[in-house]
Amino acid sequence: MLDAVDRTTAGERIIASKAAPRGLLPMEARGLTLAISGKRLVDAVDLDLNANSITMIMGPNGAGKSLLIRLLHGMITPTSGSITWSGEQLNEGMRRRQAMVFQRPVLLRRSVAANVDFVLSLRGPTDKAKRDHILEHVGLLEHAKQPARLLSGGEQQRLALARALALEPDVLFLDEPTASLDPASVLRIEQIVSSAHASGTKIIFITHDFGQAKRLAGDIVLMHRGGVLEHTPAEKFFEKPQTAKGVDFLAGRIVL
Ligand SMILES: Nc1ncnc2c1ncn2[C@@H]1O[C@H](COP(=O)(O)OP(=O)(O)OP(=O)(O)O)[C@@H](O)[C@H]1O
Ligand SMILES: [Mg+2]
Repeated sequence: MLDAVDRTTAGERIIASKAAPRGLLPMEARGLTLAISGKRLVDAVDLDLNANSITMIMGPNGAGKSLLIRLLHGMITPTSGSITWSGEQLNEGMRRRQAMVFQRPVLLRRSVAANVDFVLSLRGPTDKAKRDHILEHVGLLEHAKQPARLLSGGEQQRLALARALALEPDVLFLDEPTASLDPASVLRIEQIVSSAHASGTKIIFITHDFGQAKRLAGDIVLMHRGGVLEHTPAEKFFEKPQTAKGVDFLAGRIVL
């Protein structure tokens, strides 16, 4: 392993160093509730994420998917209930080992390279080789000097992913990262996500796209009205969901 690391460039070391499974799992949520103005938007969710799989969160609009992952990432505080990662209450140190990519990319109004440099600078001295490797990995090296705002939607989303991966997260949350992208751009993002997963990152991914879920998911968390209806291995889910509502959802019959 050390030999392999020694032979790689600085950039490749980012990927290689993650090959061994790392330590934020398992995640346990118990009675997780978020109430706003008396409405339980996330309602008594119990959820266990044990495997270093790609977990896909699905469910109709307004089901509470985005709120759930924001809670799991500690971006918002629950009204009640608990979240532990590797047996400890969610804390700042854990949050720094996680990253989030949103449906609309969050980027700095600077160059593509500066967007990645900024994230790397949070972790240590700027490392140009590392930055270039990350940009190459997401297919943006030739755009390095361009202003990020001039990138296409798909390219901006790849830059958002590059920024998230620069953090070398143990856990990567993705909230509909391919919702407005063309099919080729969707597949590129999926390849990058799969490769992050293959190198040891736990992926928690919200999608409305059944094809995407079938391509990527190890397990499916199905949400409805703030609750988790079922958490099922993906193959089993697409063959036959474990709940009647799950069957309705797959048939397009379930709405909020
Ligand atoms: N800050 C807020 N204040 C009040 N209601 C909110 C707030 N944030 C979200 N909601 C409501 O909570 C519900 C769940 O929202 P959430 O964004 O988690 O849904 P979602 O499952 O991600 O839906 P979509 O598939 O449309 O993205 C929605 O009805 C939404 O209107
Ligand atoms: Mg959402």
